[in-house]
Amino acid sequence: MTGYDTLFASINEAHETLVHGPSQYKWLASAKRYVQQSRECIGLANTRHGEVVYDIGCGPGYLLWICRERLGCSVQGCDPLRDGPIYKELYQALNLNQCISPYVSSIQAPLPATGLKYDVIFATWITWIGFGNWSAEEFSTYIHHCKQHLTERGRILLRFEESRFEEKLYESCLKQLGSRVAPLCYLFRA
Ligand SMILES: C[S@@+](CC[C@H](N)C(=O)[O-])C[C@H]1O[C@@H](n2cnc3c(N)ncnc32)[C@H](O)[C@@H]1O
Repeated sequence: MTGYDTLFASINEAHETLVHGPSQYKWLASAKRYVQQSRECIGLANTRHGEVVYDIGCGPGYLLWICRERLGCSVQGCDPLRDGPIYKELYQALNLNQCISPYVSSIQAPLPATGLKYDVIFATWITWIGFGNWSAEEFSTYIHHCKQHLTERGRILLRFEESRFEEKLYESCLKQLGSRVAPLCYLFRA
């Protein structure tokens, strides 16, 4: 088995638990859609072989898996639900346990203060961490703090959630800070 077959086989294994698990995890069942979205985001950030990648609110970890297995990237991420059901099984199946911490991203400290720098920081579909409740100034502060974790050539790829309205809410600072690279998707450079 090669490439994406391995990914989907591992996902299917972990989904056995999902079928009998809590309903808030049911969205994970549409793995193909989320894997496809992850691939799009990786492309939009122009992620290159061997780059160092961080995924804030990495959820099921598909994006990190793709960056590591397909592009040979060095990957890390965080998700407060790291040790919860489903995620635990997925990380095990995808061999991501060592790469993901339960760190809670916040306006003042979006990433853990490790001193490490990243070529690409992903923040995709994590809007419910609070974007909608943040002022435009708080949103700018978040991006500004994220930038401090970037290498010189670094990029942040942010993808908003379809069902929310943050794009409008932060319209003016989005224009100033970065560029729209696809519907719901913005790229910010170091
Ligand atoms: C809808 S999922 C999106 C997962 C993934 N980024 C994707 O695009 O498929 C949102 C994730 O954000 C995580 N999350 C929520 N609040 C967070 C925070 N403060 N810091 C980091 N992750 C957070 C949740 O646990 C959840 O796994």
